Amino acid sequence: MDKSDILHKYPPSMENLLLLLHEFQNHNPRKYLSRSDMQLVAKYLNIPFGQIYGVVSYYSLFSLTPRGKHIIRICCSPVCSMAGSNTILVELGRQLEIGLGETTAEGLFTLESTECLGQCDTAPGMAIDEVYVGNLTPKRIKTILQKYPVEKKRTQGRQG
Ligand code: FES
Repeated sequence: MDKSDILHKYPPSMENLLLLLHEFQNHNPRKYLSRSDMQLVAKYLNIPFGQIYGVVSYYSLFSLTPRGKHIIRICCSPVCSMAGSNTILVELGRQLEIGLGETTAEGLFTLESTECLGQCDTAPGMAIDEVYVGNLTPKRIKTILQKYPVEKKRTQGRQG
């Protein structure tokens, strides 16, 4: 789907601003909103670029910087915090060798925090892309991450 197709999925109305921004971010292979994409949306809705920038900066679901293939969002709201989400965050950071807001070197994961994911009964929890994972323990983290293998690059030519 090209950018014109994305724009024209919705009428040029302010009420479609968030939908358009989500579409552009989801179609970006690095899962962020580029300046040129935000300019396209601003022009389409006939609003100032600064207004778009303000919205994107306000909502934590939007990113202004390139991210990894999979976005891990650890819940840091009170119930998960009391259930040990900080310990899970430390373990994620240790295994991925990144801190909050960072992306792994091979571009597979970005680590972010989030507000309540609405699954407090299984706290502590996190979302990997759109998949919720609850009842987290530091020991489970390695097994969970192994479900998202690094894609091997194809080698050219014959071997042997
Ligand atoms: S506080 Fe974490 S899912 Fe509700």
